[in-house]
Amino acid sequence: MESGGASKIDVRSKWSNAEAGARYALNRWRDPRAALRDPMLVERILDRHGVRPAMRPVLDVPCGTGRLRGVIERRQMRYVGVDVSLPMLHEAQRLDASGWMQAEVERLPFQDDSFDVVVCCRLLHHLRTPDQIEAVVQELTRVSRRMVIASFWDSASLHALRRRVGLRRSEGPTGRRAVSKRMLRQVFDASGAEVVGFHYSFRFVSQQTFAVALKRAPVDERAKEARSIRSRLFDLDIDSAPGSLGKA
Ligand SMILES: C[S@@+](CC[C@H](N)C(=O)[O-])C[C@H]1O[C@@H](n2cnc3c(N)ncnc32)[C@H](O)[C@@H]1O
Repeated sequence: MESGGASKIDVRSKWSNAEAGARYALNRWRDPRAALRDPMLVERILDRHGVRPAMRPVLDVPCGTGRLRGVIERRQMRYVGVDVSLPMLHEAQRLDASGWMQAEVERLPFQDDSFDVVVCCRLLHHLRTPDQIEAVVQELTRVSRRMVIASFWDSASLHALRRRVGLRRSEGPTGRRAVSKRMLRQVFDASGAEVVGFHYSFRFVSQQTFAVALKRAPVDERAKEARSIRSRLFDLDIDSAPGSLGKA
């Protein structure tokens, strides 16, 4: 049985049937220009924030059919893709046999700080409630050591505005929902990360926006750092005893 309530099952069931992977890879992204947009934006974000290969890999969750793998690996960074849907993962395996794992984004089977960067593309606007968004963001931040990149449908975009004034049909109660930047900032803040930027293909026109959040050091880590600076200064005084720094 699936855990976590009916609304979560709705989200997953969209990608759970046997053809979901092939359909997503071949139909959803058959326009090559549209297909390139997310990978290019992620690449631009990594460049802009000076992300370099690190000891820890990059997590892509949900990875779907693994569209972002190329961007990460071209930068010589190790890639791990996680998704709850086996059909999506089977399609992803056509790219590469290894590096995939089935798991739920709300309960990732990794320790805190396991990844240098965590990317979450095209999930948040499928979630039904702010509580679900909070739970996902909290988990993304927990397993990241440094940065979380998360895309969402921006409530300040032209698409969302047209929907609000009735010029576009609403997708109904089970459809995708726009998320406000303000709300996302607050959710990241509560999870221990600070949103440092929003990125778009075309500002206001693109409905999808990427938020970049940097994880804050825990308070006790900052205190440890301050203690270590104090003790280094103290050592300096003692070492400098006869003659040099000690004589002002
Ligand atoms: C729109 S697709 C996006 C996939 C990929 N990030 C991309 O941009 O191509 C949404 C994905 O979320 C996955 N998903 C939905 N709920 C999930 C959950 N609770 N845990 C992990 N993956 C989930 C689906 O299986 C699907 O592959």
